[in-house]
Amino acid sequence: MKKVSVIGLGKLGSCMAAVYASKGFEVVGVDLNQAYVDAINAIKPPVTEPQLGDYLLKGADNLQATTDTQKAVLESDATFIIVPTPTDETGGFTTKYVEKVCEEIGRALSKKESYHLVTLTSTVLPGSCDEKIIPVLEQHSGKVCGKDFGFCYSPEFIAIGSVIKNLLNPDFFLIGESDASAGDKLSEFYSAVCDNEAPVERMSIPSAELAKISLNAFVTTKITFANMIAEVAEHIPGADAMRILETLGKDKRIGSLYIKPGLGFGGPCFPRDNVAFSYMAQSRGCDAPIPDVVHAYNEKMVDRIADLVSKNAKKGDFIGFLGIAYKTDTPVVEESHALKIAKKLIALGYKVAVHEPAGHEHVRNELPEDILHESMEDLLESSNVYFLGTPDKKFLALEHYLRGKQNKMVIDPWGILKDVPLGDSVTYVVFGKGL
Ligand SMILES: NC(=O)c1ccc[n+]([C@@H]2O[C@H](COP(=O)([O-])OP(=O)(O)OC[C@H]3O[C@@H](n4cnc5c(N)ncnc54)[C@H](O)[C@@H]3O)[C@@H](O)[C@H]2O)c1
Repeated sequence: MKKVSVIGLGKLGSCMAAVYASKGFEVVGVDLNQAYVDAINAIKPPVTEPQLGDYLLKGADNLQATTDTQKAVLESDATFIIVPTPTDETGGFTTKYVEKVCEEIGRALSKKESYHLVTLTSTVLPGSCDEKIIPVLEQHSGKVCGKDFGFCYSPEFIAIGSVIKNLLNPDFFLIGESDASAGDKLSEFYSAVCDNEAPVERMSIPSAELAKISLNAFVTTKITFANMIAEVAEHIPGADAMRILETLGKDKRIGSLYIKPGLGFGGPCFPRDNVAFSYMAQSRGCDAPIPDVVHAYNEKMVDRIADLVSKNAKKGDFIGFLGIAYKTDTPVVEESHALKIAKKLIALGYKVAVHEPAGHEHVRNELPEDILHESMEDLLESSNVYFLGTPDKKFLALEHYLRGKQNKMVIDPWGILKDVPLGDSVTYVVFGKGL
């Protein structure tokens, strides 16, 4: 596999194309969005993501983009599909965009004599590949999967804000394979693109489909467990959830990642994957209650935190949100708890200002322009209550800014400033403390 095509140049696909090109593969990227295609051809990031610009530059000699899927398939030995699979009315994921792409890939395969490997990276529910996607490829190519062409389901376990880092240093690769030869080819490709020696976990396609959504269901359960301990600790005088969870994380069976109190999970993947897990289990006739409970608890946190803010802040206070995206290092505000809380506080009559260090291009559609502050300094000047919407290290600058200041309050759901001396005249509110 020397030449690969990547269909879908969005948040994940543009990074995959850039990384593969930087590792010496000849890459053709495809997107329906002409602006994304033009950006890639101009060696400019079509989306905001750390290191994407650098990797586009590194791979510039090997990377081109087009809107023509068939041409890209005919010019490559392998195709990665990374188009959206949004939630549909049932709570599951629609595969209609993937199927549309597969019609085009199928048509191209019907004209191709050499072997081709098709890899689906987009998240789909168990059964989707065997029941819907592979049949579309076979129908439009007139060929047989596993014999005339290979197919793998191989989702990436990346997080927005660290996509390039995660692609280069994954904990493992997951491959669901139509046949051993398809899995062998993809394993070989992955060992050439990653910087570490990540193990390759190979299995049946349905196992890989279930593994993908199970991983997110487990991580969200862990996050929610930590948030539940924080809420319980607030009802027990003297209890401190931060210390409790730091300690629990030292037990190897638990581990220290994703077990800290905070705002709850958001973003384009975690919330929808839980809902989809639940739908999938029900549609297969089985009772899997954990994702439902996790989802409901996570939703409830918006009201809980808005209540906590309104208990601490007075009505005339000016609340400055430091961070509004669903996590650090991204401007994405989809399912952001910080955004939902800001909207709730505005509806309650509070004056709110917002500064998102990763940029305001996504929040512009959600909040009035005049409350968005490009400069953190401006926001600090105009507000007297600071709400840390994300645990961005840039907000540690509050230590210096608050020196000598009077009547300021910091609400820090993440505890990033808990060991920082903020001065006696600053009220510091942290989550998970029973007072
Ligand atoms: N973003 C994440 O954090 C993340 C993490 C893991 C998995 N995923 C999964 O990856 C998939 C893609 O996610 P994303 O965040 O990159 O989406 P995205 O919306 O940022 O990008 C998808 C791109 O596909 C393009 N596209 C749609 N139909 C097309 C077609 N027929 N031909 C060519 N291009 C087409 C769109 O124009 C868009 O640019 C989804 O299934 C998602 O669940 C995303």
